[in-house]
Amino acid sequence: MTAAALPFPPPFLPYGRQSVDEEDIAAVAAVLRGDWLTQGPAVAAFERALAGRVGARDTVACANGTAALRLAYTALDLGPGDAVVVPANTFLATASAAHHAGAEVAFADVDPATGLMGVEQAEAAIARGRAAGWRVRALVPVHYAGQTAPMAALGALARAERLAVVEDACHAVGSVELATGRAPVPVGACSESALTVFSFHPVKTIAAGEGGAVTGNDPGLMARVRSLCNHGMRRAPGGDPAADHAFADPGAAFDADGMPNPWYYEMPEPGFNHRLSDIHAALALSQIRRLDAFVERRRRLMALYAEWLAPLAPLVESPATVPWCDPAWHLCAVRIDFAAAGRSRARVMAALRADGIGSQVHYIPVHRQPFWRRRYGDADLPGAMMHYARTLSLPLFPGMADADVERVAAGLERALTGAIS
Ligand SMILES: Cc1ncc(COP(=O)(O)O)c(C=O)c1O
Repeated sequence: MTAAALPFPPPFLPYGRQSVDEEDIAAVAAVLRGDWLTQGPAVAAFERALAGRVGARDTVACANGTAALRLAYTALDLGPGDAVVVPANTFLATASAAHHAGAEVAFADVDPATGLMGVEQAEAAIARGRAAGWRVRALVPVHYAGQTAPMAALGALARAERLAVVEDACHAVGSVELATGRAPVPVGACSESALTVFSFHPVKTIAAGEGGAVTGNDPGLMARVRSLCNHGMRRAPGGDPAADHAFADPGAAFDADGMPNPWYYEMPEPGFNHRLSDIHAALALSQIRRLDAFVERRRRLMALYAEWLAPLAPLVESPATVPWCDPAWHLCAVRIDFAAAGRSRARVMAALRADGIGSQVHYIPVHRQPFWRRRYGDADLPGAMMHYARTLSLPLFPGMADADVERVAAGLERALTGAIS
């Protein structure tokens, strides 16, 4: 594990990137040579593979994680007058999708060490939402960086407060919850939630190019997600006349002998085109077969980071870990005391970049965005602000060599001490 093992000059290390192999390419090429570019067998096969992998009864694949959130919120009937509790430390989409569904967002604070929303922060957000006169209807824990929010406790809170739970697991495919007294549960099994959403953006643990999914166990709710994903359309399943109870106008759906009219569809409610294409699904399906290997590689890289970053403490601290999950690490979000280092984060990022090392900030607390400040004023969420002040995501992706971690740690040390500026 020495820097000498790296090619010279070493390649630029982005903070995250996909790992695509020849099998992935062949899988996509096979779709391109076939009959179906969308709504074909690859989408259905990926849905089965993901449902099986996470232990959910059903999965609806869709265009991206943002679409998955929108489908989940709409299927739960969140709308005007309702509010959704969203931690401030997340990507824009967790909150924007609620706004697009017509609901308000009660932003919750997070633990500054982990970036995760816990019960206390959720309770405070519920109280603020109710004080604003909203019907608080849902909790949306975000499994930041791959670590899960404390789902057993948040699930109990949601039951007590009669709230739906949607897990934003866009960072956490492959993570496992370890609640005390229970068998480990994969994220996506929805043991404490109505629905879980995933993203398969290229920096995520498995890539579809663009892609997402909703998992769940309630057949009625999942049927609604599936229908909303495809314009809200309903056809007779397999042309089965027994399904005619589902149609508002069975006379239009079937001929006089009960034979289904094959062109017929009905729209009980307007939906979206949030479908995943077969091209993207083929890549996701090929990638999910390597999910365990990806998770293992990320785990190994995080262990190396812990070793190589230890000498930089207390200036740099590795991500704080939580006991209630076995994470599939999506981000290596370290905490840096920039003030103590006497270097701004912008300067440190520029120095890293000059050294061929990418980095990123996850996240600017969403409640600080101009849109939300205009709407709700300045909320006081000190944990999220403290997390934001220190966080920096270092390169983490399966294609990194062990020696890259040493290189990043050495680059970070130089960037913090000003050896490069
Ligand atoms: C926490 C979180 N939620 C939602 C999304 C939206 O996913 P997508 O980019 O696939 O729309 C992302 C993606 O970056 C995310 O990180």
